[in-house]
Order: sequence, then structure tokens, then C-alpha cells
Amino acid sequence: MRTFPKSLQNKLASRDEADALRKLPAPNSRIDFSSNDYLGFSKSEEIFNASHNYLVKAGINSNGATGSRLISGNHKLYKDTENAIANFHKAESALIFNSGYDANLGLFSSVPQKGDIVLYDEYIHASIRDGMRLSMAKNYKFGHNDIVDLERLLKKAEIENRDREIYIVTESVFSMDGDTPDLLAMVHLAEKYNARMIVDEAHALGVFGENGEGLLQSLALENRVFARIITFGKGLGCHGAAIVGSLQLTQYLVNFARSFIYTTALPPHSLATILTAYSYLEQDKNSRQSLKKIIDFFTAEVKRLQLHSFIYSESAIHCAVVKGNAKVKKVAFSLQQNGFDVKPILSPTVPEGEERLRFCLHAYTTQQQVTAVLQLLSIHLSL
Ligand SMILES: Cc1ncc(COP(=O)(O)O)c(C=O)c1O
Repeated sequence: MRTFPKSLQNKLASRDEADALRKLPAPNSRIDFSSNDYLGFSKSEEIFNASHNYLVKAGINSNGATGSRLISGNHKLYKDTENAIANFHKAESALIFNSGYDANLGLFSSVPQKGDIVLYDEYIHASIRDGMRLSMAKNYKFGHNDIVDLERLLKKAEIENRDREIYIVTESVFSMDGDTPDLLAMVHLAEKYNARMIVDEAHALGVFGENGEGLLQSLALENRVFARIITFGKGLGCHGAAIVGSLQLTQYLVNFARSFIYTTALPPHSLATILTAYSYLEQDKNSRQSLKKIIDFFTAEVKRLQLHSFIYSESAIHCAVVKGNAKVKKVAFSLQQNGFDVKPILSPTVPEGEERLRFCLHAYTTQQQVTAVLQLLSIHLSL
């Protein structure tokens, strides 16, 4: 057999040297501080049984979609689920994609056209970056959550680009920091400079809003943005994603978003789970209240223990910066040895010098678990 290409071997070796070689972790039974299952919906027997019963009652017994949505895969559940999502998110239309990655890839590769300008937060998710790389539009990054820097770029873009579209892209909760931009100020800027806002709400669904609708809706800004990306693999505990916006936008995506067009559709049971999980967002207020309580408790404990390396966050994601891949891996390993599933986030996933421990909180996290893990962290950081 021929050997693996030398250039690829070298890339793996340099990852290893930088202490940044990625490996798939084995399943474990540690206390969960790493999953995105913020409300515990992924383990809900009620949701599991209700989705199953829904399928049985509707007489749907197929295992797969059988084709892409434009060919044979557009089964009835799509319409019901998309209508329910559009209603829930107070949008004209919703279009389901197979994942958040696919949604961002499709949106950013097809919507911004040659000559358009995309202004994006420097910490934007990899799926948005990958989408932008497939587009002919020009992309410029602004400093993380930095409104002043964004306005500087908007002024330049306005001069450079009189008749073309300008898009502003951000996340309502940043996946690697857990923090949030000043969305109201951004919407004002977008309106002032005639730009269009696109907001990825992946980590806000289920966490913010009266019924977990996300941050934009909790601020009543949903009608002032061009598109929202909602993902189901996090707070909703299942899988898939949707882009919500105008009917024209979803019509456009059906025609031009290649990650939508050229792939097999989701199976009916995925859609039944999404539909059921949405109904639980409205029914099950307890989970969201428990999550909110544990977030507040975590913040109070960070303060009490004077853990100054934490990035300010009101979301379910809390990060302590521990510089250097070797150090952050060492601390994470020790927390893991003590039964806490806390993951290190290494460079190059985050910039060098900003490596961190990422604590994801859940409706089922207890106060004792929070105190225990933070006390242990405090000891490690003082060593
Ligand atoms: C901000 C953000 N957008 C999109 C995605 C991709 O979503 P999915 O996991 O459904 O592909 C993620 C997940 O990592 C994310 O954090």
C-alpha cells in the first residue's frame, strides 16, 4: 500500500508538536459540563415517546427521506414543521437545513454576490467562514463585539460600495466565549448604513426569550434583521437547523443554496423530534427556569471565588481563559480525572494566548457540582 502523503503527515506532526492534535473522545459518564444540551431535551423520554407517537398517529413509518427535498424527500412533515417554526419565531418563512453547518454554508455562499460586502465579527463560527469562502463577495472582519470598529468599516463600505449590498454578520451568543454583542446598537448601525443583519442564534434558542425563542425575539428585534440561523442540535437537543426570514429569502435559498439542494433530506423521525421539541419549549418552562438559576449561581460562585479569568456571559456557556495549549489541557485533564467533563478549547480553534476551559451549563446541573468544579479550578489556577 502507498504511504500517506508526506505533506499531510507533516501537518499532523505539527499539530502534535503544538499540543493541538484533535482526537475523538471516548464516551464517558462524567458530570456534563461540555454538551450543548442546555435544557436536557436530548435525554427527555417524554420528547422521545411523543415524537414516536406523533409518527405512529400520522401513519408515517419510513426510515429515510429517500432523496433531496427538490426530488423525492419533501415529505409532509417538512411543511408542518417549517410552518410551526416560522410561527414560533414570528417570521414570514422558515427553511430547514440538515445542520447548522449546512445552513450557514448555503446562506453565505449563495446570498452575498460579487461586489457585495460582508462585515463579520472576528470570532464568527467556522461554518459562516466556510460559506463566505465559497462566495465572490468581499469579506472584512470587525473586532469582537466592537461596535466602533464595525461603524468604521461601514463608513468605508458605504464609500466603496454605493449600489451594492452590505451584510453584517454576528452570533447572538458566541460559541467559544458565551458572550453577546450589543444587538440593538448593531441593528441601529445596520439601519443607518442601509446594511442587512444576519444573526446566528445557535446558542440562544431555548436559553433566551419567554419561551426560549432566542435573543433577537427577547429584544423584539426579529423584524429588523434580514435572516436568523436557528440550530436544533443545541438547546433543542435534536438535530438540524433552519434559516428564518422573508418568503423571498427562503425561495431564493431553495433555488441557490447548494447545501440545501444537493443533499438527502432529513428523515421523518428527525422532523417529528424537532416539532415535538418546539412544543416542549412552550410547555416546559421549568427546564428554562432551572437553567437560568444555575447560570446565576455559577456567576455568583465565580465572583465569590474571585476567578477573574472568566469572560462575562449571561448565557449557558462560560469560559475561563487559561493561556497555552499545554496548560489548558493539563487543567482540563485534572478536572476530568475528578469526574467533571470540562473541555479545553485549544488554539487554533481560538487565537493563540486565548486558550480556555469551556463550561456549558444545563437545566440539570446542580449547585453542588458547580461549587465543586469551580473550587477545584481555583486551586489549579493558583498553582
Ligand atoms: C454559532 C454556531 N453556528 C452554527 C453551528 C453549526 O450547527 P450544527 O451543529 O447544527 O451543524 C454551531 C455548532 O457548532 C455554532 O456554534
